[in-house]
Amino acid sequence: MKGPGDEIAHQGSASQRSRENPLLQALNGHVPVKVPVWMMRQAGRYLPEYRALREKAGDFLTLCYTPEFATEVTLQPIRRFGFDAAILFSDILVVPHALGCELRFEAGEGPRLSITGNLEDLGRLAGELDPAKVGKVYEAVARTRTELPEETALLGFCGAPFTVATYMIAGRGTDDQAPARLAMMRDPAFFEALIDRLVSSSSAYLIGQLKAGADAVQIFDSWAGVLAPEEFVRWSVGPIARIIHAVRAEIPDAKVIGFPKGATLEGLTALVDGAGVDAIGLDWTVDRRAVRGRLGARVALQGNLDPLRLIVGGKALDEGIDAILDDFRGAAHIFNLGHGIRPETPISHVEHMLERLRG
Ligand code: CP3
Repeated sequence: MKGPGDEIAHQGSASQRSRENPLLQALNGHVPVKVPVWMMRQAGRYLPEYRALREKAGDFLTLCYTPEFATEVTLQPIRRFGFDAAILFSDILVVPHALGCELRFEAGEGPRLSITGNLEDLGRLAGELDPAKVGKVYEAVARTRTELPEETALLGFCGAPFTVATYMIAGRGTDDQAPARLAMMRDPAFFEALIDRLVSSSSAYLIGQLKAGADAVQIFDSWAGVLAPEEFVRWSVGPIARIIHAVRAEIPDAKVIGFPKGATLEGLTALVDGAGVDAIGLDWTVDRRAVRGRLGARVALQGNLDPLRLIVGGKALDEGIDAILDDFRGAAHIFNLGHGIRPETPISHVEHMLERLRG
C-alpha cells in the first residue's frame, strides 16, 4: 500500500524527470539538452533475451497479460542500451481483445482476430474494455515504473482507431487495408460506429496507462497512409483528436505523440492543426527539412531512420544517422526509426547507432 508520503515522492520524481529527461523536454516544447533516442519495437525478437522469455511464456498474449513478464520485456532493451524511454510491452490489438474479439498470434504469420464486419458483429462486442484484461496492462505499467531507472521516461501507447479497425474488419493484417476501405465506402454507418467505439475505449485505455505511471503516450496510426486526403482528415486526424480531447479532460497536461505512418506533409499538418499532438512520428519517406520548416516550431519531431539501414549497417547506417542529425540539429527532435526494428537486425548495429548518436 502507498502512504500519502510515497505519493508526494512519486510526483516529485515525475516532475524532476519531466525537467531532466531529454525526450520529455522535447515533448514540453524545448530543444533537449541532448538528442533523446528510443526505437519503435525496441523490445522484441532481435533480442535473444526476448526470444527466451517468449519461449518460456509460450504465447505472445501471455507475455502481454502477465505483468511480471511484460515488465521484464519492457526493461530488456533499457538494460542493454540505456534508451531515454521505455515503451510498455503490449500490443495495439489488446483493445479489440478486451472488447471481446477473439485474438491469436500465429507463429510467423501475425495476428488473427474474429471478424467485426457489420453493425450486428459490433453489437456483440462489449461497450467497455474488460477490466480483467486491461487491469493487467495497467499493473505492468505501474510495475515497470517502479523498476525503471528514475531518469528513463515510460511511454504507453494504443493503436489509432483507423489502424485497429483495419485488423478488426479483415481479421488479420492485409497489404492494402482493402477490407476496411471497402467497409468505409459500403457501410458508413457501421464504419463510423466502429471508429466511435474505438475512440471511447482507446481514450479509457490511455487514461488508465497514464494514471498507472506512463509519462507520455504514442498513438500508432500505422496504416493511415492508405487514406485519401479527405479520408485522412476524417478517419485519422478526427479520431486521434477526439482521443486526445478525452484524455486531457482527465489529465490536462497529458503528452501525446502521434505517428501517422505514410502521412504526407499536408496530412502531418492537418494532424498538428487538428489534434493537439505534442510530437509527430515521421517515417523515413518524409522530406525532413520541409516538415521542420512547416511544423518544427509547433511540435517535437520524432524519427526517422529507415529500419533497413539498421539491418545493413556500415556506410548506409552512418549516412542515414548523420543526415537526420544534420536536418534536425537545434530542433525539438527525438531520434527514432521510421517504423519498428525488424527481427533480423544485428544487435551490434544498434550499439553502433547509439555510439554515433552519443559520441
Ligand atoms: O515497441 C515496443 O517495443 C512495444 C511493443 C509493441 C508491440 N506491438 C509488440 C509486438 C508495440 C508498440 C506494438 C504495436 C503494434 N502492433 C502495431 C503498431 C506499430 C507498427 O508496427 O506499425 C501494430 C500494427 C501491431 C499489430 C501486430 N502485432 C502485428 C502486425 C504483429 C505481427 C507482426 C510481427 O512483427 O510479428 C504483432 C505481434 C507483435 N507485437 C510482436 C511484438 C514484439 C511479435 C510477436 C512475437 O513475439 O512473435
